[in-house]
Amino acid sequence: MNNKKPLVVYFSRADENYNVGTLEVGNTELLAKEIIAKTGADEFKIEPKNQYPKNYQETIDLATKEQSTNARPEYLNDIDIKDYDTIFLGYPIWWEDLPMIVYSFIEKHDWNGKTVIPFNTHEGSGNANTYEILKAKLQGATLKGDGFNMSGSIARTDEGIQKLDTWLESL
Ligand SMILES: Cc1cc2nc3c(=O)[nH]c(=O)nc-3n(C[C@H](O)[C@H](O)[C@H](O)COP(=O)(O)O)c2cc1C
Repeated sequence: MNNKKPLVVYFSRADENYNVGTLEVGNTELLAKEIIAKTGADEFKIEPKNQYPKNYQETIDLATKEQSTNARPEYLNDIDIKDYDTIFLGYPIWWEDLPMIVYSFIEKHDWNGKTVIPFNTHEGSGNANTYEILKAKLQGATLKGDGFNMSGSIARTDEGIQKLDTWLESL
């Protein structure tokens, strides 16, 4: 029998980041934790096997290289998504795209019959067309709603979290 609980799958990088200084908890992770708190969802955080550098510029350089080679970075552990009907999928925008490690996760799983609710943070790019990418990639899944995107710096404010709560209630 399928789990009635939703699942929140997300990738988020803490440490030094654009416009927000050095973080203990990444922007997308803050949204993910709020979704978990409000919905009682289970959690799977995509943890890179090779951690991204703490330094922002070094991460930028590495992400550029990963994107230009269409890399599929490895991640630690995994979760069987077959027990979940509804999956929130969260990520930051990296170079107008999903981080390559999110593709690593997507391509390892069978999305047939799933309801997927995307959410993302950014610093100006909105969802950067990633919902269209997800529609094409997540074969057999239904994307619910129009997703939710928010600038990372706003995600760190009470106002941002309230907006997220309003969106969650609208689902
Ligand atoms: C490698 C890298 C590339 C990024 N590229 C973009 C981009 O193309 N557009 C944008 O709006 N923000 C971009 N950002 C900013 C992040 O999307 C933003 O800071 C996000 O909130 C980070 O979320 P996180 O703390 O959960 O990792 C980039 C950040 C990094 C580290």
